[in-house]
Parts: sequence; structure tokens; C-alpha cells
Amino acid sequence: MTAAPEENRLLYEDDEHQFVWFGWEEKEGSNSFVQTNQCLVINQDQGYLFDPGGTYVFHQVLEQVTRYLHPRQINTLIATHQDPDVCSSAPYWMKVTDAKLLISRLWLHFVSHFGLDEPERVVPLPDKGAKLRLPSGDHLLLLPAHFLHSEGNFSVFDERSGILFSGDIGASIFPAGKRKLFVEDFDEHQAFMEPFHKRYMHSNAVCRHWVKQIRNLPQPVKMMVPQHGSMFAGDQVENFLSWFEELECGGDQLQAIYSGQPV
Ligand SMILES: [Fe+2]
Ligand SMILES: [Fe+2]
Repeated sequence: MTAAPEENRLLYEDDEHQFVWFGWEEKEGSNSFVQTNQCLVINQDQGYLFDPGGTYVFHQVLEQVTRYLHPRQINTLIATHQDPDVCSSAPYWMKVTDAKLLISRLWLHFVSHFGLDEPERVVPLPDKGAKLRLPSGDHLLLLPAHFLHSEGNFSVFDERSGILFSGDIGASIFPAGKRKLFVEDFDEHQAFMEPFHKRYMHSNAVCRHWVKQIRNLPQPVKMMVPQHGSMFAGDQVENFLSWFEELECGGDQLQAIYSGQPV
């Protein structure tokens, strides 16, 4: 296993706030593990880690995180949903930190199966989402993203940086070694997103609902970081929202799926 050529990048920084991206990728030639992105917000001296990743990537992510802060400074782990690539490393993170794990109320009793010793440190998120106050007084908005793709699912908006961590929404999967850090040509990029979104996302109605919510945020999204693949900066964010609100997916294509067509 080797890490991606670039393993971490500071996406935003001011005197009391940082937003850091970590990318992990399986070595070329293997497609057993889907590439994952992890994000860390550091506000004053406190850390907030989003979608910490699978057990397999724990040591690599921990090594990257410790370049920025001591793990004990992480007070909150956020899992957008229950999938193993999102949070099966949670038991390890809970050992090296004193952090709480925030996850949808729907997954509270399921994630314990990853082997959590202290289930009381898992905090259920209500369906309508939550607003997490940071030491500086800014907030992380935990926005409902249910059914995209999980039934209990959230996106995380960092008010201070204007960066949206969108979880599986906007995920792209590349052939080994072809991943770009940022989307450059949106038309070309669609091909790397379409198969995943068409099958894993619930339906066009749900996509539209989420896009409307993002457009109604009190401030525009400057950058969007999904849990897999390339990030969207500047105009590429709007390109994605326009594409996603028109997407026919999941239940919109039941006929095709049930008849065995490749969707
Ligand atoms: Fe997922
Ligand atoms: Fe994922």
C-alpha cells in the first residue's frame, strides 16, 4: 500500500482556523479499496475530523493528522453515515482521542458493531441536523443529506472557510493513478461520477431537495470536498449542483435495475 502522490493539503487557513484535506489511495494495480478523503478542521487548538475512514487506512490517516495536531486535541469525530469506508476506524480513533463520535440516530446501535468500547461516547444526530459551535464562535453546520445515499446521512458545512464536506455526494472513482486533486474539466469528470451516483443515490427528488438546501445556505459554498475522488473549487461547485439536481438515479430507474440492465 502506498499513499497518493499528495497526501495532505491545507485548503483554508487564517490565524485561528484551518481546513485540511487528507487523501488516501491504494497502490496502482489494485482496486480492492476505494480511494477516500478525510478532512480535519482545526479551530484554535481543537480538532474536528470528518469521515475518519476505514480500519485499513487508520495508521496512514493518523500519521497525516499528527503533522497538524496531537490526536488528543481532536474533540469530535463526525461520520456522515455508517459505511465501513467512512467510520470503521472509529474504535481506533476513540482509543487515541477522547473525542465524541457524531452520527445519525439511525446508525447509533449499528456502529457499535465496529467494536466500540464506550458506546456512551457516540452522540446521535437528529434528522434535522445540528449546529456545532467552535471555540472561535463560528459553526460547523451538520446538514441533512438523507438517502444520499444512506437513510441517515449528513453533509458538513464549515462556515468559517466556506468549505462543504459532502460525504458520498459528488464522489468520483478513477482508474488507478488517474485521480485529479481538483475537478478541471467538468464534462470529462461526469464519467467518473455517473456510475456511482446513478446506482447509489436514492432518486432525483432527493437530489433536488439537497441542492435547494445548499443553494439556500447563508453564504455560498467556495469549495466542495466529497469523501471520494476530486474536489470542486469555484465554478465547479455550481457545475456539480446543476448536474446533481437533474440526475435520474436509484428508484427513478427501478425498471432497468430489476430487469438486470447495468445501472
Ligand atoms: Fe457510503
Ligand atoms: Fe463512501
